Amino acid sequence: MNQYSSINTVQPLSVLDLFKMKQQDEKIVSLTAYDASFSALLDEAGVDVLLVGDSLGMVVQGQASTLSVTMDDMVYHSRCVARARRRAFIIADMPFMSYPDQQTAALNAARLLREGQAQMIKLEGARLDVIAFLVDQGIPVCGHLGLLPQSINQLGRYRVQGKDEDTADKIFADACQVEQAGASLLVLECVPATLATRISQQLTIPVIGIGAGVECDGQVLVLYDMLDIGVTRRPRFSKNFLTEIGSITGAVKAYVEQVKSQQFPSSEHTY
Ligand code: KIV
Repeated sequence: MNQYSSINTVQPLSVLDLFKMKQQDEKIVSLTAYDASFSALLDEAGVDVLLVGDSLGMVVQGQASTLSVTMDDMVYHSRCVARARRRAFIIADMPFMSYPDQQTAALNAARLLREGQAQMIKLEGARLDVIAFLVDQGIPVCGHLGLLPQSINQLGRYRVQGKDEDTADKIFADACQVEQAGASLLVLECVPATLATRISQQLTIPVIGIGAGVECDGQVLVLYDMLDIGVTRRPRFSKNFLTEIGSITGAVKAYVEQVKSQQFPSSEHTY
């Protein structure tokens, strides 16, 4: 975009570019974004994927969990992010109970693509029938396994998943099935690095880790956690990139560099 035109002349990354990055062993860098100003800043700093996460319920709205986030909230924030990005790929979360069945899921996902201008939707859990149905409708899907924040009331607290052999095998099997159902990407949250490595090596689709070790095909963090400016406590797997660098742009650039060069996450940010 130049100063005289509002037309974006830079082509945003596509899902094919993300596949190519996995094939070429280039780490995919992702951060959450919820508004236009941060969208532009992260895009300019070289972040490949902007995730409009339902974590906005906690870090933007100040709720105790992600459960009260609505479809209207997600569409609104996705549109804000999409307006300001130039190059980055945009994924938007399907909020809690927006995909109870195939039809409802398709109508809600279509809103994120049409009104929210996202390029892909993300949903939690091995919801294989819903994933297959959305893909059949032409809607690209990112799966999300491991720690599932929308299931917090079943889990009891946010903690590492897949620590014993049985649960690790279950997450591994789910990951294979999510890929087979047609997902184009997988987010793996808060699982031991050994499990995440196994899954990243097995799947052909890119695996983006958060608290899942350095061997994933990419990394995502909640923006406010890595700046340590949130109302929530920064999780152990995240890192404060702001204090040492002193500017938000510098912190985001350092994150991009450290993910690309595999310096982040280090062992202290890994289970
Ligand atoms: O909502 C979110 O920010 C997410 C990330 C934690 C992956 O889903």
